[in-house]
Amino acid sequence: MALKVAVLGSGSGTNFESIAEYFSQEDKKNIAEIVCVISDIPNAYIIERARKRNIPAVLIPCTAYKTKLDSEAEIKYVDYLKDYDTELVVLAGFMRIVKDDLLLAFPGRVINIHPALLPSFRGLKSWQQAYDYGVKVTGCTVHIVDSGIDTGPIIAQRVVEILSDDTNKTIHENIQVEEHDVYPKVIEAIALGRVTLEKRRVILKGGNI
Ligand code: GAR
Repeated sequence: MALKVAVLGSGSGTNFESIAEYFSQEDKKNIAEIVCVISDIPNAYIIERARKRNIPAVLIPCTAYKTKLDSEAEIKYVDYLKDYDTELVVLAGFMRIVKDDLLLAFPGRVINIHPALLPSFRGLKSWQQAYDYGVKVTGCTVHIVDSGIDTGPIIAQRVVEILSDDTNKTIHENIQVEEHDVYPKVIEAIALGRVTLEKRRVILKGGNI
């Protein structure tokens, strides 16, 4: 049985698209499937992308705060996810901090992609933080979500070089190329039972992703 994956996103949804595309390949279909999409932002393009693929997508707004989910909204998220028998919650450009209601409903089963090499440059616009700081490499990190901000156990990372003529825009574009490659592969590894946790170290059977 394919792993039931839900994707949460606030924006364009290019990561959603790469995951959906990956698991629509004939030899990957039975590994994982996206069962639903939730966005907190009206008219976020991720919703349209999902509907074009006939994947149920819903807007569940959250008006109480700008950067986190309030518990009333979070309970609605959990209910919707449970309605689709979600087994893995994938944050893909979801710009709110998720709190206990969701994390306790899916213990160790919420993952996020962050556009920097954690633990550097947590928080927002991490590619810009990397550019402003002047580091020569950055990248992306897929991690298990815990109650901190971008602090959970790291599953996979990809490195992107920053060259002198790079701009904020080109750095983020280069990071996204890596994101689109690594995120579906992480989901596949989880679905195949290759990912286990020892304290805060993620052990990957068969080697790094
Ligand atoms: C991605 O680059 C993702 O890493 C980042 O938002 C972008 C979403 O793009 N996430 C964060 O910054 C989370 N703090 P997408 O909507 O095209 O997938």
